[in-house]
Amino acid sequence: MRLKFLPSFVKRRGRITKKQEQSLKYLPDFSVHTINEVQYELKNFNECCLEIGFGNAGHLVQQAIKNPEILFIGSEVYKSGIGMLVSKIKENDIKNIRIFSDDIRLLLDADPTKTFDSVKIICPDPWPKDRHHKRRLINKDFLNMIHGFIKESGNLYISTDWENYAESIKNLLESEGLFIKSEKIYLEKNNLTKFEQRGEFEGRRVFKFNYERSS
Ligand SMILES: C[S@@+](CC[C@H](N)C(=O)[O-])C[C@H]1O[C@@H](n2cnc3c(N)ncnc32)[C@H](O)[C@@H]1O
Repeated sequence: MRLKFLPSFVKRRGRITKKQEQSLKYLPDFSVHTINEVQYELKNFNECCLEIGFGNAGHLVQQAIKNPEILFIGSEVYKSGIGMLVSKIKENDIKNIRIFSDDIRLLLDADPTKTFDSVKIICPDPWPKDRHHKRRLINKDFLNMIHGFIKESGNLYISTDWENYAESIKNLLESEGLFIKSEKIYLEKNNLTKFEQRGEFEGRRVFKFNYERSS
């Protein structure tokens, strides 16, 4: 089968615990499959924030608990991360998280609809080897795609601990003219995620890009 998008992730099932595996049974209760479903869910909330590649979901869960009036959409392909999120939603009785459990580009491969007040991408897979750069999620096509789903002046936050990826993200953001640098922070982020911590532990700096939709 031909894939519509070059995979931006390493397909790893990883080690999935019994608890995560069991939690996956409840995934349908929290899933969205289309942008129309996201719009429908939004009727009960004031704002909407999309986190792409939520990993172990620590950041997403913390933000959702602190901001119950905001609907959070989490996107991830990594089964054990999705299982972890479902179990945290159930344990904490969280009402404001919905999950898109596939490549986010499949959700956004639709007519552009200004839906998100913020899109956050924390440490996208770095694909450090030159020959793999084409797999990086943040590229020209992707920026154009998400631009259509962010509200006017909505926020785009990206971080990476790979200098070479940071340079490429900066160049893309500056050359495409779709987003402008912003001082407005959409939901303060107080803790480092697992991958930000790993980057710092391994001696890498975390580069942050806080932008807003320009037009
Ligand atoms: C390096 S990890 C970072 C996880 C987390 N944000 C953190 O900072 O700890 C990147 C995550 O993005 C997910 N990912 C990569 N491409 C994706 C895509 N196209 N759609 C949804 N998730 C994706 C991967 O499965 C992986 O878990």
